[in-house]
Amino acid sequence: MKRLFWIPLVLVLSLLSLPALAAEEHQPGKAADAAQYAGSDVCLTCHEDVYKKQFEGTPHFQTTKKNGHGCESCHGPGAEHVAGGGDKTKIVRFADLSRSEASQRCLQCHGESHAQRRFGASAHSGNDVGCLDCHSPHHAKEPQHLLVQAQPDLCYGCHASTRADFARPYRHRVNEGLVQCSDCHNVHGTAQLRQVRATPGGDAVCYKCHADKQGPFLYEHMPVKTEGCSSCHTAHGSTNPRFLRVSQVNLLCLQCHSAPALGPSGPAHNQSQKYQACTMCHQAIHGSNLNAAFMK
Ligand code: HEC
Ligand code: HEC
Ligand code: HEC
Ligand code: HEC
Ligand code: HEC
Ligand code: HEC
Ligand code: HEC
Ligand code: HEC
Ligand code: HEC
Ligand code: HEC
Repeated sequence: MKRLFWIPLVLVLSLLSLPALAAEEHQPGKAADAAQYAGSDVCLTCHEDVYKKQFEGTPHFQTTKKNGHGCESCHGPGAEHVAGGGDKTKIVRFADLSRSEASQRCLQCHGESHAQRRFGASAHSGNDVGCLDCHSPHHAKEPQHLLVQAQPDLCYGCHASTRADFARPYRHRVNEGLVQCSDCHNVHGTAQLRQVRATPGGDAVCYKCHADKQGPFLYEHMPVKTEGCSSCHTAHGSTNPRFLRVSQVNLLCLQCHSAPALGPSGPAHNQSQKYQACTMCHQAIHGSNLNAAFMK
């Protein structure tokens, strides 16, 4: 709940910082005189290694065609740098930029895209994680998406407790590459809490792969629709084979079904051993078209 409160605050803060950024030097968006650009072909003459090995074969080579600025679309106009024989103070060096300055530079081109447009309000941006913590235009170890490292190790480097989640006995097989962190999260930010994705229709991301749970059913089990999958399941890993939040199914059901205010009051049958495996009888627990008590 506390985090809900932070979201608007982060938005406001990122809006406030816009004018400051616009005043910054070397913004690629800032109108620069054509004469201030040297052209990538000139960069090539002294930086052949970077050009040939770390640029030509990468997706960013397209920037030489789209607006013609290539190297200088990220490093800023370089005519003075060239005239100075490679004066380091006359070119944008990413090593000198703060994380957010570097990210703003990338967002000049990527900020409008569907995947990255919420970055300014994301938990990552809000905690000073920038594009270059995960991406590297010239030194990507994982060429796909220019990542500094492949998932999930990229993420585990900062999220140790998530590594522990996926070491539990029952879990989505992320470590085996069957499911990826980014199937469920958009690390560039989403409209949901925890940077969780939604389906294109705006429903829980889980339906993308578990469509059979979506219904609609004649008899819906209310929490599936209202509180969502996470009211009963952990998305990462669990000690329960069905990824339940608690080790045994009856303990889960009774969290709601013994409190009259939350659901139907505890059935008389729940007291004996025989009734502890609730889903032996209430098999269609996500909803049913046949039976109001989810017997099938
Ligand atoms: C005349 C040769 C020459 C040309 C042309 C040239 N550079 Fe350089 N560049 C250098 C030298 C020399 C350095 C300094 C290397 C050092 O001190 O480690 C340098 C440094 C840089 C750096 C900083 C590297 C660092 O250590 O962080 C960047 C970025 C850079 N150049 C980009 C460019 C771009 C973009 C272009 C094309 C607009 C370009 N250069 C054209 C010679 C050149
Ligand atoms: C998409 C943005 C982008 C483009 C395009 C780009 N660079 Fe870079 N450059 C970076 C970033 C970011 C770094 C910091 C290192 C990294 O993350 O890969 C960097 C680092 C460098 C360095 C420092 C040495 C190094 O390898 O880290 C040099 C020199 C350099 N770039 C030159 C160039 C030249 C020359 C071109 C064109 C051939 C170019 N860059 C195109 C973003 C870019
Ligand atoms: C916490 C790590 C992380 C940060 C921070 C991050 N990215 Fe990504 N990015 C990823 C991963 C992982 C993928 C591949 C999976 C995916 O598409 O979500 C990706 C994919 C992308 C893609 C290609 C796929 C697409 O859907 O567009 C672009 C472009 C991109 N990132 C740009 C950026 C930019 C620009 C920033 C900074 C504003 C940034 N990223 C910040 C991890 C990160
Ligand atoms: C001048 C515009 C421009 C700038 C600035 C820019 N990019 Fe890109 N980027 C592109 C283009 C064009 C592509 C290739 C087409 C595409 O995939 O969208 C691309 C591709 C990418 C991809 C690979 C997308 C994929 O699907 O695999 C990543 C990751 C990425 N950029 C990250 C960055 C980062 C990080 C920065 C800042 C250091 C940055 N870009 C700066 C224009 C830009
Ligand atoms: C450079 C460190 C770093 C990397 C790499 C990184 N993260 Fe994060 N991530 C953070 C920080 C810091 C936060 C904000 C504090 C927190 O919630 O832990 C965060 C927050 C998150 C959140 C939101 C948590 C919440 O409580 O709202 C998710 C989800 C997340 N990261 C997923 C990922 C995924 C998936 C990857 C790999 C693709 C990744 N992160 C890579 C540092 C990182
Ligand atoms: C099957 C979907 C799914 C996958 C795969 C997944 N997550 Fe999550 N993750 C979620 C959901 C849903 C939540 C929110 C849980 C909640 O609100 O109770 C979450 C929460 C988080 C959080 C917030 C803290 C927490 O534990 O609740 C972090 C950080 C995070 N995930 C990182 C990762 C990383 C890193 C990976 C890959 C190693 C990953 N996730 C893979 C669905 C997934
Ligand atoms: C990218 C596809 C994908 C997404 C998204 C996804 N899952 Fe899964 N899920 C799987 C796969 C594949 C398995 C089978 C696991 C295995 O065999 O290792 C699985 C297994 C499960 C299981 C255990 C099934 C069993 O047979 O015991 C549960 C429970 C589950 N997922 C819940 C969720 C929840 C809750 C979400 C949303 C937070 C979610 N899943 C999102 C792919 C996905
Ligand atoms: C009211 C609690 C509850 C909610 C909410 C819930 N589940 Fe379940 N789910 C269970 C229980 C209990 C089981 C184990 C059933 C059994 O013992 O066979 C289960 C089993 C599963 C399984 C594995 C077995 C199967 O039937 O395929 C998947 C996958 C699954 N759930 C996905 C989801 C998804 C996706 C959502 C959200 C749309 C969701 N669940 C919401 C309680 C719930
Ligand atoms: C997060 C709270 C929650 C959990 C956990 C939960 N339920 Fe429910 N359940 C409800 C609510 C709310 C209703 C709808 C009550 C109503 O319609 O008055 C409901 C309805 C039912 C009904 C239909 C009752 C009727 O009167 O027709 C059955 C049967 C049922 N649940 C069984 C279970 C079982 C078995 C489990 C454990 C696998 C479980 N529930 C877990 C909240 C929960
Ligand atoms: C041996 C089979 C069986 C088991 C095991 C079982 N139930 Fe039931 N349950 C029933 C039957 C039969 C009904 C009555 C169905 C009807 O009215 O159509 C029922 C009804 C219910 C209802 C509907 C409201 C009510 O009070 O009558 C709830 C809620 C419920 N059970 C929850 C549970 C929970 C929670 C568990 C596990 C602790 C559980 N059941 C285990 C057979 C079982």
